[in-house]
Amino acid sequence: MSPKLPSHLFPWLILLTFASFYFFSSFLSLSTFSSSSSSSSPTSQSLSISNTCNLFRGHWVSDPNHTPLYDQTCPFHRNAWNCLRNERQNMTLINSWRWVPRNCHLPRIDPVRFLGMMKNTNIGFVGDSLNENFLASFLCILSVADKGAKKWKKKGAWRGAYFPKFNVTVAYHRAVLLSRYQWQPKQSEAGVKDGSEGFYRVDVDVPADDWAKIAGFYDVLVFNTGHWWNRDKFPKEKPLVFYKAGQPIVPPLGMLDGLKVVLTNMVAYIQKEFPGNTLKFWRLQSPRHFYGGDWNQNGSCLFNKPLEEDELDLWFEPRNNGVNKEARVLNFVIEEALQAANIQLLDLTHLSELRADAHPAIWLGRKDAVAIWGQDCMHWCLPGVPDTWVDILSQLIHDGLGRTGRL
Ligand SMILES: *[C@@H]1O[C@H](CO)[C@@H](O)[C@H](O)[C@H]1NC(C)=O
Ligand SMILES: *[C@@H]1O[C@H](CO)[C@@H](O)[C@H](O)[C@H]1NC(C)=O
Ligand SMILES: *[C@@H]1O[C@H](CO)[C@@H](O)[C@H](O)[C@H]1NC(C)=O
Repeated sequence: MSPKLPSHLFPWLILLTFASFYFFSSFLSLSTFSSSSSSSSPTSQSLSISNTCNLFRGHWVSDPNHTPLYDQTCPFHRNAWNCLRNERQNMTLINSWRWVPRNCHLPRIDPVRFLGMMKNTNIGFVGDSLNENFLASFLCILSVADKGAKKWKKKGAWRGAYFPKFNVTVAYHRAVLLSRYQWQPKQSEAGVKDGSEGFYRVDVDVPADDWAKIAGFYDVLVFNTGHWWNRDKFPKEKPLVFYKAGQPIVPPLGMLDGLKVVLTNMVAYIQKEFPGNTLKFWRLQSPRHFYGGDWNQNGSCLFNKPLEEDELDLWFEPRNNGVNKEARVLNFVIEEALQAANIQLLDLTHLSELRADAHPAIWLGRKDAVAIWGQDCMHWCLPGVPDTWVDILSQLIHDGLGRTGRL
C-alpha cells in the first residue's frame, strides 16, 4: 500500500508541504494572537513560527559593534557584579561577543518598545542569586527607557524596580530552595554528641513565604532553583531533612531525591495556584567555570575568550566528574520534573557554558574578597552574559503574550 511516486515530483511535494505548513503556522499564530483564550493549545504552540527556531543553540561571534546598553552607573547593580566599576580587565572584549542562534535571528531587546508592550503588567523572578543576577541585568537594561525607575520591594520581594512611565514592576523573590526551610538547632539530649549541630527542615509541600502569595500579581514569572543543592551550602553536620505534611519523610531522602520531591510539589503548587494566563518560565542551571580546583581550592576563571564547543564536555559532562558537572546533573532532574507542566524551559545553560571568560573572577570590588571567598566563577559580570538571557527572555515573552492573545 505504498504507491511509488515518480521521483521528479518529490521536490514539488516537499515544497507544497512546507508552503502549507507555513500557511497554517502563520494563520494559527495570527488567530491565537487575536483570540482572548488564556491557554494556548499544544497544536498552535508546536506550529508557531518561533518554535521552528531554537534560540538556545548557536554560537558566539565577536562583533565590535555589539556594545552594552548600560554602564557602571546603573542604580540596580550589585557591587560584586558591577565589573566596570570594579575595573575588571577586558570588559570591552567580554561584551563584544554576540549570541547567534542557529537558523534564526535574535533581536536585541529594545527597552522602550518592550516596556511599551508590557504596560500595566508585572514580571517576577523567583529563585536563587543567579536569578538575582538575571534580574539586575534586566533592571539595568529597562532603566534606560525610564529614568524615573524606582527601587521596589513589596509582597515579599527581595528587590526590584517600578517603571512609572509604563506602570511596570520587575522584581526578584529570593527563595533559594523554593520550598520553605528552617534551621532546627539540635536539642541537647543528655549531652549526646554525634558531631551534628542540627539540621535544616525542608517542608517539601510548602512554598517559602517570600513567594507563596504572589499568584495573580505577576503576568510573567521566571523560576529557578539549583545552586544551593550541594554540600557547600548544606554540609553533613548541617544537613537538609525533608518533611511532608508536617512529618519527616522516611526513609530520609538524599539531596538529589529531596530536590526531585521539592520540584514535583512546587510545580504542582504553581500549576494549581497561579492563573493559567500567567506566562511561566523555568530557567535551567547557570554553569560555573572553576578551573584547576573548586571555589575553595583556588579554582580560577581568568580566560580571555569563550570556550570552544568541543571543550564543553570536558568541563561539564558528569561522566568526567569535574568540579563544574552539577549544572547538567541538575538540569536532568529539573527537566524531568517539568515535563508535564505548563512552564516553558529557559535553557540558557549551553550558551552560558561557552562563556568561561565572563565571570567577575578576581575583580569583586573588595580587596579581601578573593582571599575569603575565592574567585567568583559562578555569577556573571554586568554588563555581560545575562544581557543575552534578557534578549532571549524578552523575545519569548513577546511570542508568549502573542500566543495567549494578551498583546
Ligand atoms: C497599573 O497596573 C496595574 C496592573 O499591574 C493596574 O491594576 C493598575 O490599574 C495600573 N495603574 C494605572 C494608573 O494604570
Ligand atoms: C591556594 O593558594 C594559596 C596561596 O598560593 C595556598 O597557600 C593554598 O594552599 C592554596 N589552597 C589550595 C586548596 O590549593
Ligand atoms: C585581556 O586580554 C588580553 C588580550 O587578549 C590578554 O592578553 C589578557 O590576558 C586578558 N586579561 C585577562 C585578565 O583575561
